[in-house]
Amino acid sequence: MADDQNQPAGPDLASGVALKDFKNGMLSGHVGDQDVLLVRVGEEVFAIDAHCSHYHGPLADGLVVGDTVRCPWHHACFSLRSGEAVRAPALSALSVWTVERQGDLLFVRHTQDQPQPARPPSEAPRRIVIIGGGAAGFAAAELLRRDGFGGELTMLSEDAAAPVDRPNLSKDYLAGSAPEDWVPLRPDSFYSDAKIDLRLATRVASIDGRARHIALGDGKTMPYDRLLLATGAEPVRLPIPGADQPHVHTLRTLADSRAIIAAAKGARRALVIGASFIGLEVAASLRARDLEVHVVAPEQRPMERVLGPDMGDFVRALHEEHGVVFHLGDTVAAIDGARATLKSGGSLDADLVVVGVGVRPRLALAESAGLTLDRGVLVNSMLETSAPGIFAAGDIARWPDPHSGQNIRVEHWVVAERQGQAAARNMLGTREAFDAVPFFWSQHYDVPINYVGHAETFDEIAIDGDITGRDCLLRYKSGGRVLAVSSIYRDLASLEAELAMEQGRPA
Ligand SMILES: Cc1cc2nc3c(=O)[nH]c(=O)nc-3n(C[C@H](O)[C@H](O)[C@H](O)COP(=O)(O)OP(=O)(O)OC[C@H]3O[C@@H](n4cnc5c(N)ncnc54)[C@H](O)[C@@H]3O)c2cc1C
Ligand code: FES
Repeated sequence: MADDQNQPAGPDLASGVALKDFKNGMLSGHVGDQDVLLVRVGEEVFAIDAHCSHYHGPLADGLVVGDTVRCPWHHACFSLRSGEAVRAPALSALSVWTVERQGDLLFVRHTQDQPQPARPPSEAPRRIVIIGGGAAGFAAAELLRRDGFGGELTMLSEDAAAPVDRPNLSKDYLAGSAPEDWVPLRPDSFYSDAKIDLRLATRVASIDGRARHIALGDGKTMPYDRLLLATGAEPVRLPIPGADQPHVHTLRTLADSRAIIAAAKGARRALVIGASFIGLEVAASLRARDLEVHVVAPEQRPMERVLGPDMGDFVRALHEEHGVVFHLGDTVAAIDGARATLKSGGSLDADLVVVGVGVRPRLALAESAGLTLDRGVLVNSMLETSAPGIFAAGDIARWPDPHSGQNIRVEHWVVAERQGQAAARNMLGTREAFDAVPFFWSQHYDVPINYVGHAETFDEIAIDGDITGRDCLLRYKSGGRVLAVSSIYRDLASLEAELAMEQGRPA
C-alpha cells in the first residue's frame, strides 16, 4: 500500500520507464496500487515491493549490497532475486516482479512466483525442540519450516501468549498508537499450518543432555535430537521494601504491558525507576497517555555508558521537552503505598510504578544441563553449547564475536532473531558461523536511535553532524578503532557502517 493516503507514488511502471531516470541505481514507481522499487545491479534490473515487510520501511532509502537490499530502519535484508527475507527483523518475503525490456524502456506488470522451500540436508534430525517462544525461538522455528525441515518441531514457552513483537510492548502498543493485533508475530493459525507444536504456559523444568530429553514442569519428559535453548532474560526486581506491591510493575511480556496499560487508565502520576532503554521508552509511552512521569535513576546522564555523554544529554533534554521530570543521581529506597522514598531523602507520590533497571539472563535450565556458563551460556561460533546437540541463542548466549574479538552477550531483538536463524540452520547440519554485526534500535517519541557494532568501553567518540538537530552519527572508538556507531536519521550511513564492519574495513 502506498504511503500518501493510498495514492501510489512515482511513475506507472506498467507504462514503461527509462534507465536514464534511475537515481543512484534505483527508481520508485507503482504497478496498479502497489509501490514497486526498481534496482539496477550491473546489467540486471530487479523489481521488488518498495516497503519492508517488518515495519514498512522505505527500501528506496536503503543500501543495495550485491543482489540484496537492506532496509534503512532496522537493517533487514531482502534478496532482490527471490524477495526472501534473508536477514531479520523481517521474516516475510516480499514480492518480486518481472522486468521486461523493450528498447530503452522497462515494463513491470506481473509478480513472480514465490520461491519453494529449500530442501534440508539429508542428515537432518527427526525431532527438534525449542525452549522459548521469544525472538530467538520463534525465528528458529519459522526458519526451520521455511528451509524445508519436515521433522517434528515443538516450541515450548512459559509465556501464556504466542510469540509477540516484544519491542512494541514498550513503544507504540504501550503508548496506545498500535492495536493489539499488531503485537503477535504471526496469527495463531500459522503454528498449526506450519505443523509447529506450540505449547504455551508450559515450563521446562530441566534438561538431561545425556539421555537427550527434557522434563516439563508437570513431570512429563520429551525427547529431542536437537535442542535450542532460547529462554531469554527476566527483569531484575528491586530488593527494596514495597517493590512487591500490585502497582509496582516490570515489563517483559504482553501480560506485563497489558497490566501497565490497565493501571495507567486510572493513574495520574507514574514513577519510572531506571533510565534504561526500556525505562525511558515506557516514560515516553506513558507521556503519550497523558500521565505525569517522573524518572529516578542513579546515573548522572541517561544511557551515557552505552551512547556517551552528548547523546545522553540529548536523550534527557528530549524527554524533558515532552514533560518527563528526572531525578538523576538518586535511587528509590522504599515504596509504601503511593509514596516512594528517595535515597536522597525526598519522596515522590505515584499511583503507578514501572521498574526498568535491567534484565538478567534466564540460566536455570542451562545450569540443570551442566552447560558451560560465563555470565550467560557459552557457545561457539556455530552457537553450540558445551553439550552435544544443544544450541543456545538470544539474550542468554555469549558468543565469540569476530568483530570485537571478544565473547559477548547482548540483549538485542535483531541479534536474538538472527542467532535463532543461524542456530536453526546449524541444527540441520549447515555449519554456519554466526558473524552478524550486532544491531539494535530504540525509539523515543519521534526520534529513532540506531546502533551497530559493540563497544563494551570506548576512549573516544567522534561526532559527525548535529545531535540536537537530530541528524548525527557517532563513532565509538578504542585505540583509534571504531567499535560501534550510533545514529539519528542517518540511516544510510548506519547501513554503510554495518557493511564496513562486516568487511573488516574502517567504519
Ligand atoms: C519491552 C521491551 C522492549 C524492547 N525493545 C527493544 C528494542 O527496541 N530493540 C532491541 O534491539 N531490543 C529490544 N528489546 C530486547 C529484546 O526484546 C530481547 O533482546 C529479545 O526478546 C531476546 O530474545 P530471546 O529469544 O533471547 O528471549 P525472549 O524474547 O525473552 O524469549 C524468551 C522465551 O523463553 C521462555 N522461557 C524462559 N524460561 C523458560 C522455561 N523454563 N520453560 C519454557 N519457556 C521458558 C519465555 O517464556 C519466552 O517465551 C526489548 C525488550 C523488552 C522487554
Ligand atoms: S522496517 Fe525494515 S527492518 Fe524494520
